[in-house]
Amino acid sequence: MIQSWMAVTVAAKWREAEDVFSFELADPQGRDLPPFTAGSHVDVEVAPGLVRQYSLCNSPTRRDRYQIGVLREPVSRGGSTVMIDSVAIGDTLRISEPKNHFELEPSASHSLLIAGGIGVTPILCMAERLSNIGEPFEMHYGARSPARAAFRDRIAASAFAGKVSYHFDDGPDAQKFDLDALLASPAPGAHLYVCGPGGLIEAVLKTAKAKGWPDARVHREFFAPVADTGAPGGAFQVKIASSGQVFDIPGDQPITAVLIENGVYIPTSCEEGVCGTCLTRVLEGEPDHRDVYQTPDEQARNDHMTLCCSRAKSAMLVLDL
Ligand code: FES
Repeated sequence: MIQSWMAVTVAAKWREAEDVFSFELADPQGRDLPPFTAGSHVDVEVAPGLVRQYSLCNSPTRRDRYQIGVLREPVSRGGSTVMIDSVAIGDTLRISEPKNHFELEPSASHSLLIAGGIGVTPILCMAERLSNIGEPFEMHYGARSPARAAFRDRIAASAFAGKVSYHFDDGPDAQKFDLDALLASPAPGAHLYVCGPGGLIEAVLKTAKAKGWPDARVHREFFAPVADTGAPGGAFQVKIASSGQVFDIPGDQPITAVLIENGVYIPTSCEEGVCGTCLTRVLEGEPDHRDVYQTPDEQARNDHMTLCCSRAKSAMLVLDL
């Protein structure tokens, strides 16, 4: 499906915490924006050809604005610096409709929400939703220091302030993340949600597995690749199932680049295995997955792959295109 964009106006921008800015985006004509559910994100065209994903952190009941939080990343992949330094109130941006790969499970008996740094954005939205509908949950929010923890005022003023525990890297040991204790003995029907830096997500996933959390009850949202997804690999071939065309994929080029160059349209957005826009069904062959979009179980099925960064373990892949 071709990515469709809508124009929005930057209605407000403010400093939320050290190196974190909030932006409010509104319809230029003042109409309601498309509805969304907690955990959703939008693709934002930060500059021509530069697309980044930002979670929506306002309440889903509010339709006149979308709020996003942007962290200035020291080793920036480009998007956050442009957003913070160059995008101003009154500017027009193009965004996608909201997409949700990080949905709350409505049948959960209890929700354990874990946020690290700017990963608080979807988690905050989830906490507000769970609080509004009276579902049991607790939220744990880790940051390097109080000054770098965004949305503390909003959390303090919320109805769920008492359900939020902070864990600061520069604070006393007793308040630091203790994942072994936090994830011990998963309650029947409880679901776990984590969003934050790759290191935190990996640690949570590893500990959850060791403590017996079933994979289906563990949900995570990555914002950036964990490893160098663009690492080169060997050459292989790709066959388009509908046309029978076969393309050589050299070791130093992504599948998307070769296919797009040859007129085979592949929708892309992040181009680094995070967003899932280029996810494609695999009919034959074995992919070499380099993305963080799919779960390990999904990757092991080898029936879908992200064409922007993944490669092949077999000599040929047949794609359902
Ligand atoms: Fe985002 Fe491929 S374009 S995963």
